[in-house]
Amino acid sequence: MKQQGAILWLTGLSGAGKTTIAVAVAEELQKRNYPTELLDGDIVRTHLSQGLGFSKQDRDINVRRIGFVANLLSRNGIIAIASAISPYRQVREELKQTTHNFIEIYIDAPLAVCEARDVKGLYAKAKAGEIKNFTGISDPYEAPINPDIICQTDKFTVEECVNQVLQYLERQGLIFNC
Ligand code: ADX
Repeated sequence: MKQQGAILWLTGLSGAGKTTIAVAVAEELQKRNYPTELLDGDIVRTHLSQGLGFSKQDRDINVRRIGFVANLLSRNGIIAIASAISPYRQVREELKQTTHNFIEIYIDAPLAVCEARDVKGLYAKAKAGEIKNFTGISDPYEAPINPDIICQTDKFTVEECVNQVLQYLERQGLIFNC
């Protein structure tokens, strides 16, 4: 049987844990020999989306580009793991409708927790007004209304969140328990 691809779309605030979970899920899938590819917002912005900023228009273009590539991978049997803030509901919905096996995963951590983590020091800069249009501080984040999976990274460990994702994929018949 041909391996089914999928798009694991991780959306959430900066510092919510998208990259951490994406990398850990990818490692686990690769261990099980599933062809997997990571599309991380920060990395995509240095290549495919170089020059784009953080206006709604630019973010939507960025998200559509990631979705376009993820779809090429997914329809060819690869599990594409995309992690980008992707703050706008409408463009996420658009991808859900137009791409192959799109699975929306809300990486959910309260803003206060993300601010306290401030992994990249960007929240402090945003609050000082040094970064404009910063998601959660001076720019909106529209949380998913009905995501396929919610990973609450302030309540569960990375391992627990990864298992949640893998169990969902197993239930959907996209991967098999080994
Ligand atoms: S998205 O909104 O277009 O999906 P994406 O995930 O690619 O965003 O990029 C977000 C990353 O860019 C953040 O993790 C952070 O490192 C950096 N960044 C720089 N400026 C901003 C900003 N104004 N808002 C959010 N993230 C920003």
